[in-house]
Amino acid sequence: MGIGLETCILFAREGANVLLSDISGPALEKALETLKSKVPDAKKLDTKITDVSKEADVEAMVKHVDSWGGLDVIFNNAGIMHADDADAIDTPEKIWDLTQAINVKGVWFGSKHAVLSFREHGKKKASVINTASVVALVGAATPQLAYTASKGAVLAMTRELAMVHAREGFRFNALCPAPLK
Ligand SMILES: NC(=O)c1ccc[n+]([C@@H]2O[C@H](COP(=O)([O-])OP(=O)(O)OC[C@H]3O[C@@H](n4cnc5c(N)ncnc54)[C@H](O)[C@@H]3O)[C@@H](O)[C@H]2O)c1
Repeated sequence: MGIGLETCILFAREGANVLLSDISGPALEKALETLKSKVPDAKKLDTKITDVSKEADVEAMVKHVDSWGGLDVIFNNAGIMHADDADAIDTPEKIWDLTQAINVKGVWFGSKHAVLSFREHGKKKASVINTASVVALVGAATPQLAYTASKGAVLAMTRELAMVHAREGFRFNALCPAPLK
């Protein structure tokens, strides 16, 4: 949905082969339909159900494009802001853990398997794009502490990955969008 689908449309328009991934199968089918109608001359398109908080799922997602020549760009964008996320007092621990598992661990797994794939396929140039948020920079006046902490982690992790992998030609960038529809 949202930013992920719009990004897939832009990548397809630019002539990329695009693998759409999401935890929801029905959402993926709908997204693929929309993508095909918006970009009728798109190249290779496929879908893969993936729970980004599960490393085996992320590994399988990345391996899915091995036969396409391997990964060139990964967009680690899946994320949640749970309705029960609140302030320091009222955020339930299970909501904290769920938010970090998807928003932070998911980005780590995506980055890890992207680097492994880039190396395996001998890529000299590749790109990892992680979605953080403006709240990573300035916080939020409406309490959503688990989400804000998770996006701070995504931004910090991306900065370090960018330095660690620069000499391999692998770029890491984080987006910090303000609220979008
Ligand atoms: N919309 C905004 O205002 C805004 C602002 C700043 C940052 N962001 C970030 O941008 C990203 C996309 O946001 P959006 O507004 O397009 O959200 P969205 O809810 O429209 O899309 C998020 C998608 O992630 C999927 N998802 C949820 N859990 C998953 C999991 N475990 N594994 C795989 N997929 C999973 C959902 O099914 C959904 O399709 C998120 O990381 C969000 O935090 C959004």
